Amino acid sequence: MKGRTLGVLIAAMVAIAAVFIIMAMRPEPAEKRKPVVPDATLALAAIATPATPARPVTAAIAFQPPSEAAMPNDEFGKVVKLGHDIFTQTERYASQYNGSTNMNCSSCHLDAGRLADSAPLWAAFVSYPAYRSKNDKVNTFASRIQGCFMYSMNGKAPPLGDPVLIALESYAYWLASGAPVDPTIAGRGYPKVPKPPLSPDYARGQQVFSQHCALCHGADGAGQTDANGQPNFPALWGEKSFNWGAGMSNLKNASGFIKANMPLGLGGTLSDQQAWDVALFMNSHERPQDPRFKGSVAATRAQHHDSPNDLYGTTVNGHLLGSGKLQAN
Ligand code: HEC
Ligand code: HEC
Repeated sequence: MKGRTLGVLIAAMVAIAAVFIIMAMRPEPAEKRKPVVPDATLALAAIATPATPARPVTAAIAFQPPSEAAMPNDEFGKVVKLGHDIFTQTERYASQYNGSTNMNCSSCHLDAGRLADSAPLWAAFVSYPAYRSKNDKVNTFASRIQGCFMYSMNGKAPPLGDPVLIALESYAYWLASGAPVDPTIAGRGYPKVPKPPLSPDYARGQQVFSQHCALCHGADGAGQTDANGQPNFPALWGEKSFNWGAGMSNLKNASGFIKANMPLGLGGTLSDQQAWDVALFMNSHERPQDPRFKGSVAATRAQHHDSPNDLYGTTVNGHLLGSGKLQAN
């Protein structure tokens, strides 16, 4: 009995410590936010005792964008700053185009779009215009931003020339100061995680989720917002999350993002197997409809989701994914 009481006490202390660490790591409005918190990260690492502590390869040699303090203090700088603020507090500065009430651009492009292996803005900026098979044409940088508003943020595309679009382009251009124009620049996009030995599995993914993710993102995947509606922890599925048309709903993108960046501050600690398993678990839940949906889940799958890494239109635990009540904006 005594041993058990001690066990419960220790568990409670660990839980309290974890809450403090999470409070410290929680994203804050840009002005107050520090880049990454090494102390808290180390402490969390100690609690989680990860199997293989290693950060992805490209991060070390990646291009360094200018520091926030170097932002120009003039008319152009004001628009760069606005782009930064839209990127990190999207609902506050661009609610007219934002459909997700629990996500910022920086929820998936970490450290305000600076972090290598987290699809950083500076690498994206020097990579367009470029041909994409997804829509079979040459895409501009602006059209990629529009796409992330429509799908990743489940919102509406700001029209060309809109101040929101101009501000985001200005911020990305400024972050790319001194970078070569080169779509193969190190640190671009999310790393590709090789397919693991066992095919990704829901039950194993669920286990990874409750052990390594639920603490922050919630057992229901809905995340948490603060009193001002700013996401503390973004939603992984459900009505406040990205929709079925988003890049993150593809297991390749999701496993790459997760392996490199999650749990927050502990990127590179999950095995490839764990990253794919938990990506599959996350994307086996209902989320807002693909805006390209025209009435039939099967037809939408055939046209836009015909890939083994895409669960839209497949049946998981008796539920046809994409047939949920959640609708796109
Ligand atoms: C739910 C996660 C998520 C959110 C939120 C998100 N993005 Fe993305 N973004 C992605 C993914 C995944 C990709 C790349 C894969 C794809 O689209 O096929 C991407 C790609 C991009 C690219 C191109 C990157 C490259 O190197 O080619 C840009 C630019 C971009 N996003 C900007 C934004 C902006 C601006 C916002 C906010 C309006 C935003 N994103 C919100 C997940 C997200
Ligand atoms: C310590 C808290 C914490 C833990 C643990 C954590 N995350 Fe996150 N996660 C965050 C935060 C905070 C963000 C947004 C990053 C930002 O704003 O800087 C995020 C972003 C994400 C995103 C992109 C945004 C979205 O909502 O889709 C995904 C996907 C994600 N996490 C998945 C996971 C998975 C899977 C795990 C477990 C392996 C995990 N996270 C563990 C805090 C955490």
